[in-house]
Amino acid sequence: SLPVPSAQEIERNDPQNIPERYIKHLQDRPKASDVASVSYDIPIIDLSLLAVGDEDERTKLDVACQEWGFFQIINHGADSVLAKMKAAMAGFFDLPLSEKKRYAMAANDVEGYGQGYVVSEDQKLDWNDLLFLITLPAKARNVKYWPLTVPGFKEAVEEYAVVLERVSDEIFGNLSVLMGVERDFVKKLHGDVKQGIRMNYYPKCARPDLVLGVSPHSDCSSITLLVQDEAITALQIKHEGVWVPVEPIPNGLVINIGDAMEAWSNGRYKSIEHRAVTNFEKPRISAAAFVIPGNDVKLNPLESMVDEKLQPRVFKDGVDYIEYLRYTLAKKMEGKL
Ligand code: SIN
Ligand code: FE2
Repeated sequence: SLPVPSAQEIERNDPQNIPERYIKHLQDRPKASDVASVSYDIPIIDLSLLAVGDEDERTKLDVACQEWGFFQIINHGADSVLAKMKAAMAGFFDLPLSEKKRYAMAANDVEGYGQGYVVSEDQKLDWNDLLFLITLPAKARNVKYWPLTVPGFKEAVEEYAVVLERVSDEIFGNLSVLMGVERDFVKKLHGDVKQGIRMNYYPKCARPDLVLGVSPHSDCSSITLLVQDEAITALQIKHEGVWVPVEPIPNGLVINIGDAMEAWSNGRYKSIEHRAVTNFEKPRISAAAFVIPGNDVKLNPLESMVDEKLQPRVFKDGVDYIEYLRYTLAKKMEGKL
């Protein structure tokens, strides 16, 4: 990744002047006319019901993953951990720039403080700063990128990572049952799994009509779990051709299907394109946790999901996760493939 200026600093120093490099081409700007004019209810799933094997709730999950690729979960028992995580992130982004730079993403690395997917000097940039950390397994952590001087940061992120692993496992157990395999199948399918958390800081922006917080993309994960600022609606998902805002709910965790799960499910579950817009009045912090399959894991559709007549194969066999990932990152700027 190429080093780029901090959006947070740009906004702090000269809030009215959006540098050219952040102003999207006309066709890429977030237009009001592309956003859904009716309000949609993105599914809300009760994790405590999934955990006791409630079949209606499991069916709701099935429908959510097919029709939306996104849902929010409640009753996950992690409210206090979510609050700690948000405080820890605010603590980090509040540090002076010189402090944050100690954790700057090295060239050819994806971890650290910086900006994602910067591939060229003339690429339009997103209006955000990020800190990306591999959080699980613990032995895969790169401590040089962990801001250990921020009070409570390490504890909060560690605790949050473990909670999200429990939540993911519950989702994987239910998706396994829905796909007609043993309960632990999808979890095991991940092989040498990692969890990575991308913490985002979106400065407020005097011209939200010109920039994007995050450009449209789909996620490379199996699933992604997002905690976001409850006061600001910024995440939008592509649904039936329009952008639908995901309204935050108190203590909700937004979960979405990533590309790996779409392949494993043979396209039953959808990895949906999404983006984040900026806010005129307030900065926004979010954290997206990605469940990342092992490099050598195959993205073959599950046998139970392929039926020559009823569910013809839509993903080919034999593609390794790492092969897919390299290909995708190279093409990242072009949206969903
Ligand atoms: C992302 O999907 O990359 C970030 C979404 C968000 O901050 O809401
Ligand atoms: Fe995403």
